[in-house]
Amino acid sequence: MITEAQNKSTEAQSQERLLQRGLSLSKESFLAEVEARLRKALEGGFSAPMQEASVLLEAARHLCLEGGGKRVRPRLVGMFGEALGAPEEALADIAVAGELIHAASLLHDDVVDEGTLRRGRPTARSLWDNKVSVLSGDMVLSLAFLQVKRYPPMITERAVELVASMSRAAMMEIVACGRPEMSIEAWWGIAMGKTGALFGWCGEAVALLMNQTDAIANLRDCGLRLGVAFQMADDLKDLRGDDPKDRFADIRNRNPSFCLLTASERSPAFRQALSLAWSKERLEEPQIQQLGESVLALGIAEHTYQALCREVDLAMAALGPYLYAPGGRDIAAWGEWLCKGLRQA
Ligand code: FPP
Ligand code: MG
Repeated sequence: MITEAQNKSTEAQSQERLLQRGLSLSKESFLAEVEARLRKALEGGFSAPMQEASVLLEAARHLCLEGGGKRVRPRLVGMFGEALGAPEEALADIAVAGELIHAASLLHDDVVDEGTLRRGRPTARSLWDNKVSVLSGDMVLSLAFLQVKRYPPMITERAVELVASMSRAAMMEIVACGRPEMSIEAWWGIAMGKTGALFGWCGEAVALLMNQTDAIANLRDCGLRLGVAFQMADDLKDLRGDDPKDRFADIRNRNPSFCLLTASERSPAFRQALSLAWSKERLEEPQIQQLGESVLALGIAEHTYQALCREVDLAMAALGPYLYAPGGRDIAAWGEWLCKGLRQA
C-alpha cells in the first residue's frame, strides 16, 4: 500500500523530473558555462589604490555565487535561445547579464526592505551595511551592461530601459505598502515591472541577438507573462505556508499581494479588517493568523492557482510559432511545472 508520505515523495520526484526535462535544453554544460562566467565577472580585481572597492565584489559574490540562486533567468535565456537556434557562446553572455541584473536588484531590494535574510542566508547589508549593498548593486549592474556590450546595441539599450521599469515598480511597491484598497491592476503593473520585465528582456535580448525582429514580441511577451506567473506563485506560496516559519509574511509585512487584494475585492468585511490591522503600528501574531485563515476561507488559494495557470497559458500563446520549436516546448514544460508544483494537494 502506498502511504501519503510516499505519494508526496513520488509527486516531488516527478516534479523534479519535469523540471529537469523542462530545462534540459539549458543543459548542464550551458549552465556550467554561465556559472563560470558569473564567477569571472565577479572576481575582477582592483588595482592597488582601489582596494577598498573590493568589498563591493565580495558582497556581490556572497549573494550571487554562494547564495544558491535557482538561475531561473539564465535557464530561460537558454530555452529562448534554443527556440531561435542561437549560438551558446553569445547566449551565455546574455544569461550572465540577466542574472547580474537580478542580483543587482536584490542587493538594492534588501536595502529597500531592510531585509536580514536572503535565500536563507544573511543579506549583504546585514553582513556589511546598506552603503556596501547599494554600491555593490551599482557595480554589478555595470558589469551586466559590460557583459553584453559587444552584441547589438539595442540589447544594452533595452537593458537600461528595463532597469528604469524595475526601479519604477519598486517605488510603486513602496507606495502600495499597507494599502489593501490598491487595485489588482496596480498589482499587475508592479509584478510586470519587478519580475516580468526582466523575464521579458531575456526573450527580447535573444531575439535581438539573432536579429529576428519578428520574434521580439513573441519572446518578450512570453517572458513578461511568465514573470507575472512567477510572482503570483510567490504570493500563493506565502498564503499556503510553503515556508511554515514565515507563513502570511505578506500580511505581516503589509504587502498587498495578489491574494490579499483578491480577498479584499471579494469581501468588503475582509478589506475593512485588513485596513484596520494595517493602520495599527504593531500587528499581533494571532491577528495575522486569523486574517490569513480568512483569506483561505474565501477560496483565494484556488482562485490564485487558476489565475496563475491562465497566465502560463497566455505566456505559451504569446510564443506563437516558437512554442513548437525545441526550446519552446521546454518553456511549456517549465510553465507546466510551475503550475503543477502549486496544485492543491
Ligand atoms: C525581489 O522581489 C525584488 C525584485 C524582483 C526587484 C527589485 C527592484 C529594485 C529594487 C529596483 C532596482 C533595480 C535594479 C536592477 C538595480 P520581492 O521584493 O518580490 O521579493 P523579496 O523582497 O521578498 O525577496
Ligand atoms: Mg522585496
